[in-house]
Amino acid sequence: MAIKFGRPIEMRDAPLREVTTPAASLDLVTRMRRNRKSEWTRRLVRENVVTTDDLIWPLFVMDGDNRRAPIASMPGVERLSVDQAVRDAERAMKLTIPCIALFPYTDPSLRDENGTEALNPDNLVCKAVRAIKREFPDIGILCDVALDPYTSHGHDGLLRGGVILNDETVAVLAKQALMQAEAGCDIIAPSDMMDGRVGAIRETLDGAHLHDVQIMAYAAKYASAFYGPFRDAVGSAKTLTGDKRTYQMDPANTNEAMREIELDLAEGADMVMVKPGLPYLDIVRRVKDSFGVPTFAYQVSGEYAMIAAAAANGWIDGERAMMESLVAFKRAGADGVLTYFAPKAAEKIRAEN
Ligand code: PBG
Repeated sequence: MAIKFGRPIEMRDAPLREVTTPAASLDLVTRMRRNRKSEWTRRLVRENVVTTDDLIWPLFVMDGDNRRAPIASMPGVERLSVDQAVRDAERAMKLTIPCIALFPYTDPSLRDENGTEALNPDNLVCKAVRAIKREFPDIGILCDVALDPYTSHGHDGLLRGGVILNDETVAVLAKQALMQAEAGCDIIAPSDMMDGRVGAIRETLDGAHLHDVQIMAYAAKYASAFYGPFRDAVGSAKTLTGDKRTYQMDPANTNEAMREIELDLAEGADMVMVKPGLPYLDIVRRVKDSFGVPTFAYQVSGEYAMIAAAAANGWIDGERAMMESLVAFKRAGADGVLTYFAPKAAEKIRAEN
């Protein structure tokens, strides 16, 4: 097949009807553009789609009544009092988003060195779970397990002499998970990156006959700069001493992520998560290909903030960037995405169907 190059620029840029005249035709058998010629055929050959079933919507809960407070570094995202979280759960139901995730903004006066509030069965997260389940028993609720919203030092585990204790932390996390499950949480999601926590949580849940409570392990969670706005949202940004690099993973590593996933699955994780999202799609793909288990990605606060900020400045089309980023997760093999865009994306998806 002869492929001829070098058509004059004017001709390549000419309107469609002119370049389709025989005189302008190259001798090509394969023309990739044929399948892209109009919307119906692009839809026909599309390999990946985002549906509302792919979305998990993270919500931030705070004290008070009938309150919604904006989070400066996450334009469009708010902290919600429990009654308002129930309203957003209703919105999720109506938008057919299958699952929401709850994160607390704990009053600073309730934070201490050991994160004791994490074990209060009446803490914000447990209250929110109960309130939402009372009205909407059919929506999935995921609860994060870690101590950082509750500790005065902002770390996910117990801190002694500058060291995060592993096994002691795991014992506390197992209790935290049990309490959340007893409140009605469906998916326990340990985000702390301590060794052995998935196994300990599974054993504790099973010991309490909570065999159906799922575990989604934040299995490959990296020590990332992209969590910044989240730490504002839960109020741990200012208090965090040092960084989380002795427990969260080095962004340079891939094989290590595979070992983390393997361990969490062996310990009883039902689903695994890679976090952050877009900068780690290579990990998502490798995890999905290697293990074939339900694999999720967390499009984290900093990723959300970048798109939202650029859109607010008119530098990118925010809606298109949102949908493009979400389909990228599907392309990489993710079964679903935790994303602050969930309600907006769901609205857009439903409007187009
Ligand atoms: C807490 C936790 C974090 C996130 C989810 N759970 C922050 C952290 O590890 O410091 C980040 C979520 C986001 O940035 O959107 N362990």
